[in-house]
Amino acid sequence: MRILPYLALIGLAFAEDGLSGWLRYAPLPSSVSWPYIPHNIVVLNTTKTSPVYTAGQELQRGIQSILGQDCYVSSDSTHESIIVGTLDAYVNAYGNLSQTVDLKEDGFWLSTEGNTVQILGQNERGTLYGAFEYLSMLAQGNFSSVAYASNPDAPIRWVNQWDNLDGSIERGFGGASIFFANGSIVDDLTRVAEYARLLASVGINAIVVNNVNANSTILTPDNINGLGRIADTMRPYGVQIGLSLYFASPTQGVKGQANLTTFDPLDSEVVTWWTNVTSQIYDAIPDMAGYLVKANSEGQPGPITYNRTLAEGANLFAKAVQPYGGIVMFRAFVYNQLNESDWKADRANAAVDFFKPLDGEFDDNVVVQIKYGPIDFQVREPASPLFANLRKTSMAVELQVSQEYLGQQTHLVYLPPLWETVLGFDMRVDNETSLVRNILAGRTFERSLGGYAAVVNVGTNQTWLGSHLSMANFYAYGKLAWDPTQDTTKIHEDWTRLTFGLDQNVIDTITQMAVESWPAYENYSGNLGIQTLTDILYTHFGPNPQSQDNNGWGQWTRADHDTIGMDRTVSNGTGFSGTYPPQIAAMYENISTTPDDLLLWFHHVPYTQRLKSGKTVIQHFYDAHYAGAETAQTFAARWQSLRGKIDDQRFDEQLYRLKYQAGHSIIWRDAIVDFYHNISGIADDHNRVGNHPWRIEAEDMDLNGYKIYTVNPFETASKHHAVITSSNSTVGSISTTLSFPPGKYNIGVNFYDLYGGKSRFEIRVGNVTVGMWKGDSEDYLGHTPSIYLDGHSARRITFGNVDVREGDLLEIVGMPDGIEPAPVDYVVFLPEGVLD
Ligand code: GCU
Repeated sequence: MRILPYLALIGLAFAEDGLSGWLRYAPLPSSVSWPYIPHNIVVLNTTKTSPVYTAGQELQRGIQSILGQDCYVSSDSTHESIIVGTLDAYVNAYGNLSQTVDLKEDGFWLSTEGNTVQILGQNERGTLYGAFEYLSMLAQGNFSSVAYASNPDAPIRWVNQWDNLDGSIERGFGGASIFFANGSIVDDLTRVAEYARLLASVGINAIVVNNVNANSTILTPDNINGLGRIADTMRPYGVQIGLSLYFASPTQGVKGQANLTTFDPLDSEVVTWWTNVTSQIYDAIPDMAGYLVKANSEGQPGPITYNRTLAEGANLFAKAVQPYGGIVMFRAFVYNQLNESDWKADRANAAVDFFKPLDGEFDDNVVVQIKYGPIDFQVREPASPLFANLRKTSMAVELQVSQEYLGQQTHLVYLPPLWETVLGFDMRVDNETSLVRNILAGRTFERSLGGYAAVVNVGTNQTWLGSHLSMANFYAYGKLAWDPTQDTTKIHEDWTRLTFGLDQNVIDTITQMAVESWPAYENYSGNLGIQTLTDILYTHFGPNPQSQDNNGWGQWTRADHDTIGMDRTVSNGTGFSGTYPPQIAAMYENISTTPDDLLLWFHHVPYTQRLKSGKTVIQHFYDAHYAGAETAQTFAARWQSLRGKIDDQRFDEQLYRLKYQAGHSIIWRDAIVDFYHNISGIADDHNRVGNHPWRIEAEDMDLNGYKIYTVNPFETASKHHAVITSSNSTVGSISTTLSFPPGKYNIGVNFYDLYGGKSRFEIRVGNVTVGMWKGDSEDYLGHTPSIYLDGHSARRITFGNVDVREGDLLEIVGMPDGIEPAPVDYVVFLPEGVLD
């Protein structure tokens, strides 16, 4: 009989803060039984920096923790062992395997047949991947007998961090950088090692550690040494590091490097400069993966500054790293500011315009890194046509795990279903099946390089990304980069099992929420291909539809009183649809064959245009926004049904976010439907828009020490107004007599939580205090903050099950703090069962 591991008995008492992500190695519950697992781990490489050695350590640790079984690491084989090493090392030691195993670079063979476990990598890193796969099985209570080879679909499986040397992270929502602070590399790299472990466990083989908007000071001799320490820390996990470069570095007076007067990529002094710097880097990091370059985009310098082509710019770096086996990831995110009064101007055309003419001119070790859609990480975009336009250039897709335009980790949005719309898209190149994922793997155009990059932006927060549930996106990214045909729901189930345990109800509940989350977010943030209608000029977080237009950024909606959408047809618009291969071009050229979910991406139509669903565009907007917010309002309750099945800290932290999302989804909904109702003048068939029977506007209440404030943008306040205290030191109150029928109500208070102050509030009903709270979400939520009353700072707090009698006095007392004048928008009284 098996003796229960002690840790299994204490189960959920195990402290959990998210730091180990999906690598918790939680003790299996007592209900699970398992077959014999060898006690002897044979490690065929004892060099401590080798991923094979790491694999042995990881197996020992994992088996101890999951099964409560001590293992011995040795180099002696007995009959019953877990044998870990490269396939070559195995064959040297034991002779050929009984069957032929076909391994590609980084692949592994895993066999659990009989009483021996074989974990054999094509290379050292592949061996570690095999060990993590085996441990993932054990941690999920899966003891089936398997024997298979697993190979990655594509060689490039990178992540990008947009970390700045000062320790901030561009579009990062999980705290400060784990790599940098105060202009250099941090001393304590413990978190870097833990990050490398997470990366390796899902098959990621390289990381670019600094922001694409790069800084030349990364190239000082001190910083190069520091990068060497980072590389040393990640090497045992098989994760190579890469660097983002600032194109004009030679002219920046970089300490310890020569200072030139030009950064012209064809200038011989510039070539020498980069050759020298590259050689210094490879001295410190002999296995550096390569460079990532953002050039001539969003204010970044590049080769075009000197009338050189982007290919000439990319090849400058490619030649510098080529002798060391490095590669250059050159970003296709290149575009100029445009004029909206030009009907044919289109930022979506930029990538094909810039890169198609250069096809064949990039050196072999250049990979063009292409965002999944033609604009910028929007909630829905068509697959970038550039994937179909480069036949003689290696390509990688750029995804974004960090939810820049998708709720900044305060909204639950499981992204893989969005990524799938691109990876599984058939470009019909030469009228033949040509899925984007096959193009990336190099199969379609016979390229030896290619693959995946994702902007992850983990930070020092214990949860890495700021939110426990967002870690599913990180996990799934690695899994899909390894095998993009995997079922994204199944990936989520595995992740949930590893992260929250084996309770089927927990797995089903969280996975079902995840599956519904991207459609819900799309529903309340931007429909029919109009893009995420967020504030593109400020924080990219809350709603601000009009910020898309009347500026040079080219994320236009072209909404007026009667019509909306970008005409990207060849016949009458920007011609973008014609940049796809003929069959796809024909599909997008015509409204009748354009899928509804991309209608406004490709066509400029009246609000009354009928969709394939039979609804008009405007009614679809209204219905979708209501449906999306309704779904988001169920998440917190569904999560709450898991109380007791998830450890307290992670449960409470996630609950806070899901409640926040419930409120913010309503702010999104109301802002967008109000905006389009206002601009189109078309009523909602169901009479919901602008009609809120359970709401009391703060500006309609008796104000004492408060004054009325006109909110901008108008649609981010109910009836366009809120109230704020008459000064930043006045304690104010607002009150009114309630006339709702007596009964139990769920109360919501919509207020604004600005960065730069933590106002305090108290709500009383019938002289009984219902609740007190602070506008202090800046201490809990990592989204980009706002210092204004707007769609980013707008929030709702709720109080359940409150007794209300007719004639009760409702009173809210607000105590301002800092720049925050205790702003209140409205109060809503929802009878039991009524969702707002
Ligand atoms: C987006 C993002 C920027 C980033 C840019 C890029 O526009 O908002 O912060 O620098 O993408 O990918 O280079």
